[in-house]
Amino acid sequence: MKGDKLQAKAPITISRPQDLLPDDTVASEESGNRHKLDTIIGQSAIMQEVFELVEKVANSDSTIIIYGETGTGKGLIARAIHKNSYRRDKPFVQVNCGAIPENLLESELFGHMRGAFTGATSDKPGKFERADRGTIFLDEIGDMSPDLQVKILRVLEEREFERVGGTKSISVDVRIIAATHRDLEEKVRKETFREDLFYRLHVIPFTLPPLRERKSDIPLLVSHFMEQFDKKKKKEVQGVSDKAINIMIEYPWPGNVRELKNIVERLVVLKGEGTILPPDLPESIHGGNGRGTSVSGIELTKDGICLNTAVSEFEKALIFQSLEKTQWVKNKAAKLLHLNRTTLVEKIKRYDLQQCSS
Ligand SMILES: Nc1ncnc2c1ncn2[C@@H]1O[C@H](COP(=O)(O)OP(=O)(O)OP(=O)(O)O)[C@@H](O)[C@H]1O
Ligand SMILES: [Mg+2]
Repeated sequence: MKGDKLQAKAPITISRPQDLLPDDTVASEESGNRHKLDTIIGQSAIMQEVFELVEKVANSDSTIIIYGETGTGKGLIARAIHKNSYRRDKPFVQVNCGAIPENLLESELFGHMRGAFTGATSDKPGKFERADRGTIFLDEIGDMSPDLQVKILRVLEEREFERVGGTKSISVDVRIIAATHRDLEEKVRKETFREDLFYRLHVIPFTLPPLRERKSDIPLLVSHFMEQFDKKKKKEVQGVSDKAINIMIEYPWPGNVRELKNIVERLVVLKGEGTILPPDLPESIHGGNGRGTSVSGIELTKDGICLNTAVSEFEKALIFQSLEKTQWVKNKAAKLLHLNRTTLVEKIKRYDLQQCSS
């Protein structure tokens, strides 16, 4: 960015940023490919810990499970682990366990023999075979059917399986990384996820924090994506004003980094040039319910300000923040604000604050 108000510091990268694959890379199954650079941004202490863990465990071959809400970067971290391991020149094979129809998933994973089912016109290796000597990334593992959970358990234990319709056991040397946005422990308690599989996967757990818990990363991410989309879309947006960035910092980002990336893309395309100001931001991030109301963003203009209104706005924004921070548990929110619960409930009513459904 040029002359921007929001100055990007050097992006935080893990040890081999040049090896990280860009998002949605289909070619990642091919071994030895070199891709365009991509960087994982994160200067918050919590993300720095994640990066340290990536470096520590990348070469260990241990099974990894990555937890995190949608859009927190689970796919990005999985690729980073692979690219930081000695397997980096071997395939990285991604399977979306939630997206493939259940009846096809087994043959997707383990392959099939000719004639195994209608349409199986030739022998076909599955993803586990294709990942041999590399990494297999079992995305959305929490959505896998109970039958398949049994079969995966066996591969995890023995690194051995048979193709659908086959009798010969096939052994592979693969590193397993799984990810889910679901609470697997909860699923184990509800008996929809096998406990033995849970413990097999839960060797090195990563938990990617939601963006609302690492707000200090927001300016850097905005700056990073703005630069990226300026280049890609041949635009000249130069930065984001302090007020606009404050609004972005206050917003809870339910879709996490993906949502922020999409909004920055939209801002770059629609604005085209100049500096992003609060009115440029979509209604969803600064409108309604006090969402995004910046606590520090009040400015006294030459027209003056109504003190009572400003104080109310300030109070409303702080109450909203406390509720967001406590997942709307009013007892906890009241404690954060040193209020008793009844007073807080009255104020929530007065300001008509509501939990967002997104
Ligand atoms: N720390 C980060 N730095 C830069 N880009 C990021 C970061 N985290 C996520 N992204 C980008 O945000 C988008 C979403 O990331 P990713 O697909 O890895 O999330 P996810 O946790 O796998 O989400 P889902 O559960 O929906 O699959 C991607 O475009 C990714 O490149
Ligand atoms: Mg993902």
